[in-house]
Amino acid sequence: MLLTRDEQAALDGEKGVSTQKAMELLVALGKVYGAEGLVDITSAHLSGASYKTIGDGGLKYLEDMVAGGAKVSVRSTLNPVGMDRERWREMHIDPHFAEKQLRVIELYGAMGVMTSCSCTPYLNDNVPGFGDHIAWAESSALSFANSYIGARTNREGGPGALAAAILGKTANYGLHLDENRKPTVIIDADIDGSMFSYSLLGQAVGTRIGNGIPYYRGISPALEDAKSMAAAMAAAGSVALFHVEGVTPEAGGFDLDGLEVIHIGERELKAAHEQLNSTDDVQLIALGCPHLSEKEVKDIAALLKGKTRIDNDVEIWFCTSAAVRDRCPEEVRILEGFGPVLADTCMVVSPIEGFCQCTGTNSAKAGNYLPTLCSQKVMCRDLSELLKVIA
Ligand code: F3S
Repeated sequence: MLLTRDEQAALDGEKGVSTQKAMELLVALGKVYGAEGLVDITSAHLSGASYKTIGDGGLKYLEDMVAGGAKVSVRSTLNPVGMDRERWREMHIDPHFAEKQLRVIELYGAMGVMTSCSCTPYLNDNVPGFGDHIAWAESSALSFANSYIGARTNREGGPGALAAAILGKTANYGLHLDENRKPTVIIDADIDGSMFSYSLLGQAVGTRIGNGIPYYRGISPALEDAKSMAAAMAAAGSVALFHVEGVTPEAGGFDLDGLEVIHIGERELKAAHEQLNSTDDVQLIALGCPHLSEKEVKDIAALLKGKTRIDNDVEIWFCTSAAVRDRCPEEVRILEGFGPVLADTCMVVSPIEGFCQCTGTNSAKAGNYLPTLCSQKVMCRDLSELLKVIA
């Protein structure tokens, strides 16, 4: 790899231990993936934030980074953590977990990371522009940024994104390069256009194409649809970039001749739905995967307004960012009549397996991860069907 004099000095340890560790990691990644050099980034988004997923080993890694003087050098945001930092008692979190989780947040903050703890940073405090090179971990967010915005990032892991945040650079390979952003398959989609159908479409396509780059025809996803579809494709497969004819910013520039065409319609969506369902029982309904946007909070409030809570034991969580929660206080008040509106966290990275075994979701991404990461049986339904359980 070609390094500038400055980059070589960082690698040689002239800029401190943490910078050296970060550079060693980027150079190692660059060598594995054949990068010719590094590229400057405008922002980073970091995962590895929930104490549930990183444990004491991850906490120690962060302690060491902070002790070594690590500081991020570009705008950097943080993924959801295992609990709402203020309302964790309402989430059945034990004080030991809370203490460790708060320490994780504190350590990221000490490195200069904005601890907004959301998987939709592109709606709030980390909004890349078209063509920006960025280093984002969090598969749903990076796919949205690559596709709907036209920024450029690989599917970073937590340590790689943190190293990039510290250096303000990442290895220049993969989706940072024009030649790797071309579609690999055309998806001829026929869906009803509801957000749930976009989530199932993402499930069907991710399962079918793995890490390909789909070029969609026949759909016109709004922002919320795109974030839901991006999340599903990244979870069911490992799709990190998609194009939509007439919608996404890079879609106009490709030669599509000779690409395989796959039709996805009612039959495929039904199969995707069946794949995600394992129960008709539910103890917790968790909405907001990815985190609810302002529009979604308002839509849910409109559906619940004037209704009363059905007297049953089913809990409902509305997961969003603190920024969105602050922006719509009236609607949040309506939702709070049914269950907590939580910030900082989500149903997958929180230790929900400690108090329930059956969770309801309208998100294909959550439907993929709840069984494996939270030992849950899943009831996957449209939003209106889920709300009927509690109102
Ligand atoms: Fe976000 Fe959690 Fe879903 S991090 S995309 S709400 S699994």
